Amino acid sequence: MPQTAAQQIEAAYREKFATSADLYQQGCTLFPSGVTHDSRYLRPFPVYIDRAAGSQKFDVDGNTIIDYWVGHGSLLLGHSRPEVVDAVQRQMALATHPGACHRLELEWGQLVQQLVPSAEKIRFTSSGTEATLMALRVSRIVSGKSKVLKFAGNFHGWHDTLIPAADPPHAAEAYQTPGIPTGVFDDLVIVPPNDIEATAQAIDQHDPACVILEGTGGRWGVVPVRGGFLQQLRQLTAERGVILIMDEVISGFRVHPGGAQAYYDIVPDLTTLAKVLAGGLPGGCLAGRADLLEAIAFGNSLGKKMKHPGTFNANPLSASAGIAALEIVATGEPSQQASEIARQLRAGLNALFDERGVAWIAYGDFSGVKIHPDYEGPRPTGDSFIPFDNDYQQLDRKFDDSLLHALRCALLLGGVDWMGWHGMTSSAHTEADVDQTVEAFSNAIDLLRGDGLLK
Ligand SMILES: Cc1ncc(COP(=O)(O)O)c(C=O)c1O
Repeated sequence: MPQTAAQQIEAAYREKFATSADLYQQGCTLFPSGVTHDSRYLRPFPVYIDRAAGSQKFDVDGNTIIDYWVGHGSLLLGHSRPEVVDAVQRQMALATHPGACHRLELEWGQLVQQLVPSAEKIRFTSSGTEATLMALRVSRIVSGKSKVLKFAGNFHGWHDTLIPAADPPHAAEAYQTPGIPTGVFDDLVIVPPNDIEATAQAIDQHDPACVILEGTGGRWGVVPVRGGFLQQLRQLTAERGVILIMDEVISGFRVHPGGAQAYYDIVPDLTTLAKVLAGGLPGGCLAGRADLLEAIAFGNSLGKKMKHPGTFNANPLSASAGIAALEIVATGEPSQQASEIARQLRAGLNALFDERGVAWIAYGDFSGVKIHPDYEGPRPTGDSFIPFDNDYQQLDRKFDDSLLHALRCALLLGGVDWMGWHGMTSSAHTEADVDQTVEAFSNAIDLLRGDGLLK
């Protein structure tokens, strides 16, 4: 019987990544769905990586792959940047966990303070999830209020209050995320992104402790946010006395050394940071107004202190990687280089989709490249183009899962590891990477156009 396109892709994939297929069998005996992060789940199996350098990863079968995950966004400088590797190796031999205050936490904190406009005071955590959790708790302690306003499609980590409505569908009944107590929803107010009127109404109706949003729009800009909206939101929250939290876990240091807040000239009350902050190692922090971070201080004037333990807070290895990375980030070059190469990739992909008559479009800001696989509208006229006039319900949709898995496998066959419907660049990506990636997409289109997976 002749093979379908999907079967052909799978057969070639199994052959090229045979050792990964074997390792995945072991993974399935250990981990749910065989993986340790939801996004790494891939049918028929994910690729196992041994080593990485610059923009490339090297898998267990000896294949070289251009990486568009860049450490889930943490590696703005690319993999194994020598300055970062040296710093961590040096620190490793000195102390991995002194169980004490240390000089590196000061240096690390001072860099955050110098670079991020809102960072009057800082408290380190181990992840971005912990940083947003802390931001809510601090806001509640200081304001004495409990509700939290977030925007549909914004991702702030996986703790109870903020994981609902991080993905489509956006219908209210769909927010009932499994495993989260229903009481959580009493304190959560969800508003359409980029809608200042709806935000103002929701603030007046619910009187929340805080408003939180991603600095460049939900899930790293699937629905982009523009500076005009951020300025309106800053003004609105200041007028209503509501704490504004900018979640810069992904945009921080990546879009600009000072994050989206520096780029758009907005000073939020609180900022959450992680990823690039720790140079590719685990680490996060809450930064912001000194009077708000007082909530964590002993004997504060509020008379209530937020408890904050955490075994790996300000861990010296993460601090050493973070300092080495931020010193380079501070020059401004890495964010510019990563953004420029992503711009070239978006342009190259759009030219390809046009030429091949595929109803796909590439868009995005800074170092993000989004692909919308169901787009028939006008083609981009410039790089700031947003499909569907930024209608969030059109942009932020669930797409065909089989197509997604087949596309990722087809791209891996062409030597490209794409994150799903999006990719991210680092300052280590090159024009040659862009050319190879566009070619890999072209070959993937050929492979997918077999049995109705792609028109
Ligand atoms: C905007 C944003 N906030 C929070 C998080 C959670 O960070 P972590 O994965 O370090 O817990 C992420 C992770 O991707 C993120 O992109």
